[in-house]
Formats: sequence, C-alpha cells, structure tokens
Amino acid sequence: MKKRLAILASGGGSNADNILNYFKESDKVEVVLLACNKPGAGAFDVAKKWNVPTYALTKENFKESNDFLYFLQKLDVEWVILAGFLWKVPGALVEAFPQRIINIHPALLPNYGGKGMYGHFVHEAVHAAGEKESGITIHFVNEHYDEGAVIFQAKATIDPSDGPHEIEMKVRRLEIEHFPKVIDAIL
Ligand code: GAR
Repeated sequence: MKKRLAILASGGGSNADNILNYFKESDKVEVVLLACNKPGAGAFDVAKKWNVPTYALTKENFKESNDFLYFLQKLDVEWVILAGFLWKVPGALVEAFPQRIINIHPALLPNYGGKGMYGHFVHEAVHAAGEKESGITIHFVNEHYDEGAVIFQAKATIDPSDGPHEIEMKVRRLEIEHFPKVIDAIL
C-alpha cells in the first residue's frame, strides 16, 4: 500500500511541483491532495499539471472548524507536507497527525523563524544582519511557528556581494535538492 500524502501550499508551488515530480513514479508514495489557502496561487496550477485533486482552504474550514481535518481523514491521508504554507497549523490537526506534519523553512532555525518570518522577509532579514551563511530547515510541525523537532538542515555560504535575491536563490536550490529526498527518507 502506498503512503498517502497531502501537500499544503500558499504560493507559487515550486516545492510542491518538485515533490510531485520526485514521487511521480513511486511505488511507495502517492500525493493524493494539494490544499492551498490563496485563491489563484500558482500551487493550484501545479496541482492541475500533475492531475492532483485540490482543496481550497479557508479560515472557516481550516481554523474555525475541523472540516479540513475530517476531509484528510476521509481520504486516508497519513502524512502532511507544508511546502511554502504560511498559516499556522491548528492544534487539532497537529494532534491528529503527531510527528506526521513536515515543514520546510528557508533559514537555519532557530534563527529567522516565527510569525512574519516567511519567504522574502527571511532573506531580507538574513541579509540585513550580514550573515555569512543561510540554508534550509526541515522539521516536524507543532503548534508554534517553526518550533518542532528539526529533521534536517543544509547550509549555503553567503558571499559579501549577495543581496536578498541571491540568498533566496541559494536557499531555493537547497530546497529543490533536499526536500523530496528527506521526505522519502522519513516516510
Ligand atoms: C519556500 O522558499 C519555502 O521555504 C518558504 O516559502 C517559499 C515557498 O515557495 N516557506 C516559508 O517561508 C515558511 N515559513 P514555493 O511556493 O515556490 O514552494
């Protein structure tokens, strides 16, 4: 039986695309759903490209009720992957999937994490602080932003001439290289 996985995204969906590509012929893993909280986001196009069913997340079905949780349970989803997902995961979902929700964060946690630290804000902060390295953190999700147990980190060197954009490109390269492999290993 294949492991059933749901991807949650909020943006362009490059990580979702990469995960779907990696597992496209897997006999171990099947992506059964892509859920996204941003109407019109690129992640929906990614789902269409890979012919994966989608779910439009709203505050109502995600935070104010257990509708999304029940939907995942009905689909027999076993693992939830946050691939550029920007909402905090509600306690009921964390409890229903203990150590089964995995997030990727575009920095070396515990630095540059927490509320408001996402996407380009992270790379701008890393640049403003004059850091010499950044990277990715893949971790289990608990009820606090970016605080669950770390599974994997990879680092990139920041050159003095790198701006936030160059830092982002280096971090995105690490995401593409490692995220699906780490998911594969954990599953
Ligand atoms: C990725 O860089 C991901 O690490 C980051 O958002 C981007 C989403 O890109 N996630 C966070 O900042 C979470 N706090 P994508 O939609 O192209 O995958």
